[in-house]
Amino acid sequence: MTDVRRPVHVEQPGEWFATPSLWADMDLWHEQVAEIRRSHRVLAVDLPGFRPFWVLTRHRDVLAVSRDNEHWLNTSQSVLGPDEAWEKMLAAGIPEPRTLVHLDGTEHREHRKVTNDWFKPAAVKNRQPRIDALADVFVQRMRDLGGECDFASDVAQPFTLRVIMDIYGVPEQDEPLMLELTQGVFGAADPEFMGEAADAQARAVDSVMRFIEYFNALTEDRRRHPADDLATLIATGQPGGCPMGEAERLWYYIIVATAGHDTTSYALSGGVEAFLRHPGQLWLLRDDPDLAFKAADECIRWTSPVRHFMRHATEDTEVGEVLIPKGGRVLLSYPSANRDEDVFRDAMTFDIRRGDADRLISFGGGVHFCLGSQFARREVRTMLSKLALALQSIAPAGPAQWAQSAFVSGVKHLPVRYQFR
Ligand code: HEM
Repeated sequence: MTDVRRPVHVEQPGEWFATPSLWADMDLWHEQVAEIRRSHRVLAVDLPGFRPFWVLTRHRDVLAVSRDNEHWLNTSQSVLGPDEAWEKMLAAGIPEPRTLVHLDGTEHREHRKVTNDWFKPAAVKNRQPRIDALADVFVQRMRDLGGECDFASDVAQPFTLRVIMDIYGVPEQDEPLMLELTQGVFGAADPEFMGEAADAQARAVDSVMRFIEYFNALTEDRRRHPADDLATLIATGQPGGCPMGEAERLWYYIIVATAGHDTTSYALSGGVEAFLRHPGQLWLLRDDPDLAFKAADECIRWTSPVRHFMRHATEDTEVGEVLIPKGGRVLLSYPSANRDEDVFRDAMTFDIRRGDADRLISFGGGVHFCLGSQFARREVRTMLSKLALALQSIAPAGPAQWAQSAFVSGVKHLPVRYQFR
């Protein structure tokens, strides 16, 4: 399904994890990384422009490190990027990242509590009628588009964006701005998302600056006019009984605004891309609606939209039989761990009936386990179930395209041709 393969030249295996353009051909990526996983449970990487790091390629190591907060911390550098990008960000006056992911220990726990109740299974279940209604809007949009659309940008993106902005309290007219800025943060290296910016770093800095401006105004508004939404909780939250710091508040807004939709959107568009390669599997859902749970997990395992997070050793610590020195950093490769043959039977096969899909590690593990996993799973299974019931046929109408980002990425364009029943 990928466009004609371009030859790629890779000097070192570590580039597969750090170079944005190498995420544009996921068949090739998985082929290459499967070999790395077989030869290197833990891969030492020393690339120009990056401080050295190690990649954990196996499921059990990624899980073990995620669950061990004594020996591994997140710190403000939980996302891999060229060292120069970090310097430029600080020089531009952007506060060091302090999202939930970047916090550790009590600080992390207290900040997570501010919004946690909204993401618990029972609370998310109560939103099912709204998720259904929004999914219906976008199935209808497919009908209105008359048999051909770009499933990624016409359906997956706006649907997942609206579900999260609905609880956030961001008005619908601001959704395009949220999407543009999210693409600037997560996908800055993709030429399509770079806009007028001189380079990826300038694009990311500009996006964060505009987010800050937007969320400062939102904070003022919600403090004056509290509403029953997430924006009010973040504006007025008191982690540990104290007002939230300015940087923490801004980054809290940013993580919910960004992580809440691009991830799920890529799971959905990449899931449908996999169904196009295995057409029979979508119709299995029509015959057995209970399969929707497994199908959603399989789409999220298969696509693994969050490509990594980093952890830093608090002392000399062994992982995968390699000793990582104090201060050393490891990259948790979720897409690699999700194809680990020791955990998933026929790991390289997309199969919505598989019995082990719920061992997926796409949402991480331990205390940082994805706050929004309940939403993501519901959104994906709701949309898949509706498509399976409504569609008569669906097929590719052109090549799929993957976003070029080593952090959060997936199928950004998916031209499809379809008929309704
Ligand atoms: C398929 C969709 C999604 C994927 C693959 C995903 C993946 C992840 C991963 C890998 C982490 C880090 C976990 C760790 O460090 O162990 C995370 C954290 C987080 N996610 Fe998601 N996510 C998704 C959807 C969402 C949604 C819908 C939201 C809604 C707001 C969300 C909000 C968050 C937040 C706030 C955190 C930080 C949690 C913490 O550090 O305590 N995510 N997610």
